[in-house]
Amino acid sequence: MACATGYVGGTVLDHVIKDTNPSLKDSVIDVLVRREDQAERLREAYGGRIGTILWKGLTDEDFIIDTAANYDIVINAGSGFFPSGAAAFVEGLARRVKNGQRAP
Ligand SMILES: NC(=O)c1ccc[n+]([C@@H]2O[C@H](COP(=O)([O-])OP(=O)(O)OC[C@H]3O[C@@H](n4cnc5c(N)ncnc54)[C@H](OP(=O)(O)O)[C@@H]3O)[C@@H](O)[C@H]2O)c1
Repeated sequence: MACATGYVGGTVLDHVIKDTNPSLKDSVIDVLVRREDQAERLREAYGGRIGTILWKGLTDEDFIIDTAANYDIVINAGSGFFPSGAAAFVEGLARRVKNGQRAP
């Protein structure tokens, strides 16, 4: 999940983690954050329910593509001023599908 430090992203993350649906209740949500202190705060709040990944942000498109290619679902709750960063998430997800690595 990208941009969980923001208002929208933090709200979505909290809802996903507290959801009791069997498909979500034990899941670990990986979160992209730009600073280690943000990662620390999220780990304090959610413990083992999240994994934190440091990134440079929505302009680091190669990183976004490579990262998204490891996931079945990405939530990008960040600023809408970086459309190429948003597109990079889609490109990474598409690469995963193309390579047949999607979860059953
Ligand atoms: N809040 C609303 O009611 C509302 C309603 C409709 C639409 N929206 C839209 O939803 C989006 C998020 O809104 P928000 O209220 O959650 O904003 P926010 O609280 O200001 O949060 C912005 C988030 O985007 C991240 N971000 C900003 N620039 C970035 C970059 N270059 N690379 C990576 N991450 C970056 C911030 O990360 P850092 O913490 O690292 O800075 C933060 O997580 C915006 O596009 C907004 O227009 C919001």
